Amino acid sequence: MRTLAKEHKATNGVSTQHPGLPGNAADPLPQNPVRRPPTRALRHRPGAILEIGGKRVPFMRWSFIRLLLSMRRLMRVWQVGDGREERLAAYVVQNARQGDLDDVIRAIDEYCYERSYMINVGDEKGAILDAAVLRARPARLLELGTYCGYSALRMCRVMPDTARLVSIEFNGANAVIAGRILKHAGVSDRVAVLVGTLGDGGRTIATLEEEHGFDAGSLDFVFIDHDKSVYVSDLELILNRGWLHPGSVVLADNVKFPGAPEYRAYLNERQNENWRTVEHKAHLEYQSLLKDLMLESDYLGGPAHAATGEGVVAGIGGSRPGRSWRGGPA
Ligand SMILES: C[S@@+](CC[C@H](N)C(=O)[O-])C[C@H]1O[C@@H](n2cnc3c(N)ncnc32)[C@H](O)[C@@H]1O
Repeated sequence: MRTLAKEHKATNGVSTQHPGLPGNAADPLPQNPVRRPPTRALRHRPGAILEIGGKRVPFMRWSFIRLLLSMRRLMRVWQVGDGREERLAAYVVQNARQGDLDDVIRAIDEYCYERSYMINVGDEKGAILDAAVLRARPARLLELGTYCGYSALRMCRVMPDTARLVSIEFNGANAVIAGRILKHAGVSDRVAVLVGTLGDGGRTIATLEEEHGFDAGSLDFVFIDHDKSVYVSDLELILNRGWLHPGSVVLADNVKFPGAPEYRAYLNERQNENWRTVEHKAHLEYQSLLKDLMLESDYLGGPAHAATGEGVVAGIGGSRPGRSWRGGPA
C-alpha cells in the first residue's frame, strides 16, 4: 500500500485532504489548496460577471447559456458558433497595447469576464499553469489545444527567454485567431501553432520531429488541454516517442470538469512508479461555482505502460539512466 499523502507532505509541505477517485483507483493523489485570483478590479466594472454571495456565477449570462446550448457543436468543431472567438481577436487588437504580453492577457480576461464566456484556462487555473512552468524551467514545451492562444501567452510570459513552445490545434480557424493574438502580443517567434492532432496518422508527429527538434528526452513541459477522451492516449503517444525525460512536467486541465477520469486513474495507478502527481483544486474558468482539477505530474522515467499494450518503447528518452537536463537532477 502506498502512502502518497505522507510522501507529498514530506516533499511539499502541503496537506492532502481528498474526496476519493472515480472507478477503482485505490489511493488518492496529493492535492494542493485552491488559489483564487483577485476579483476586485472586475467586480466594480459595469457588465462584469455576476456575483452571488461572493461567488462569481456565469449562469445568468447569455454568453454562458449560449455556450451550454452549443455544447455538442463545441465538442465537435471547437468553436461556440456565434463568432466570439473571432471577436476576441478583434477586441485584443483594439484594446491591448501591441507588443505588450501582460496587456494582451489582461484584455483576454476582461473580454471573457465582461463580453463572452470562453474556454481558455482562465486566470485562476492560469496561475497554476504559470507556477508549473516556472518550476519546470523548460527549454521545450508542447501544448495540446491552442484554442485562441491564451494559455500559450501565459506560458510565454513565464518560460525562459530562449525556450520554445509548440502548440497543436485541431481547428484551423482557431489556429489563425491564436496566430493573430500571439502576433499582437509580440511572441510569434517563441510559439509555433501547428494545425493537426497527435493522432493524425503521424503527420503532426513528423512535423514536430523534423521541423521542431523533438527527439529523445528533449521535451521538458507538456500542457494537456484538448479533447478529454484522448488525454491518456496522447500522453502515451508522447511517452512512446521517448520525448520526455525524468523531470519533465505534464500539466492537465479540466480533469474534474468536463472531466478526464481515465487520465486521473491512469496517473493514480502509476503514482511513484513512472509519475509523481499532485492535484490542484480550482474552479472552472471565469467563475467560482463549478469546481475543476488540474493534475501536475513529474515524469520519473520508465516505459509507457501503455493501456493499449501497443507501441511501448521501453528504454528511450526518459528511461535512459543518468541523463541530465538543464536545472534537473542527473
Ligand atoms: C479547452 S480549449 C484549449 C484552451 C487553451 N489551452 C487555453 O487555455 O487558452 C481546447 C482546444 O483543443 C482543441 N482540440 C480538440 N481536440 C484536439 C486534438 N486532438 N488535438 C489538438 N487540439 C485539439 C480544440 O479545437 C480547442 O481549440
